[in-house]
Amino acid sequence: MLSVQNLTKSFVSPEGGTVAIVDVRDFALGTGEQLALRGESGSGKTTFLHLIAGILAADGGSVRIDGVEMTALSEPRRDRLRAEKLGYIFQTFNLLQGYTVLENVLLGMSFGPRGADRRHAREILARVGLGHRLNHFPHQLSTGQQQRVAVARALSNHPKLVLADEPTGNLDRKHARDALLLIREVCREQGAALLFVSHDEEALAQFEVRRDFAEVNQATREAGR
Ligand SMILES: Nc1ncnc2c1ncn2[C@@H]1O[C@H](COP(=O)(O)OP(=O)(O)O)[C@@H](O)[C@H]1O
Ligand SMILES: [Mg+2]
Repeated sequence: MLSVQNLTKSFVSPEGGTVAIVDVRDFALGTGEQLALRGESGSGKTTFLHLIAGILAADGGSVRIDGVEMTALSEPRRDRLRAEKLGYIFQTFNLLQGYTVLENVLLGMSFGPRGADRRHAREILARVGLGHRLNHFPHQLSTGQQQRVAVARALSNHPKLVLADEPTGNLDRKHARDALLLIREVCREQGAALLFVSHDEEALAQFEVRRDFAEVNQATREAGR
């Protein structure tokens, strides 16, 4: 479902040297699988997810999602496929502040294969427990509710793969637990694979399958990050 090979990314340091941040030789996730990657802050987790999503261009290597080589696509095609196959959940939610809960989900859907389907948007929002908050703006919601909007948006196109970048980092303990349970449940219901990255041991402990990012990412290992 997801297959990554020889994926590399370096950044130029303020001193002018290049620093290898991601060097993943071989990484795969099967259909519907859920995996938690444990990595310290600065170990390259976000960069890795950005490379998988094509938000950031890799220096080299291959990312295949659902059989499609993402790195070989033109930008418009990659944008289309990303909207179709990928859901992304951010630590900071990344909701559009000037739009309602319903509109945030509809906007996410409008780039996807089914378009802005109001009925489906309402259904997925009801599924995450926000059926009564459709016309609220993000700032009128609690942080836990805001993350649930982001979960609904990420899952609204029925992606094959969901990337979750420290999605519980801005939530208190109870809401973090609930949010993660919800993310895992909805992914399971839809048959989406889930790649979760975090340094939060409590969140990581909710997963049956965990790996150290340093074991996946050669660059982390070599830098001792
Ligand atoms: N655009 C960039 N330019 C230069 N360095 C960057 C850039 N983005 C990230 N880095 C560096 O790459 C490293 C990994 O960052 P990141 O992927 O955000 O780690 P994590 O998500 O694990 O905390 C950090 O040392 C960070 O400073
Ligand atoms: Mg990060």
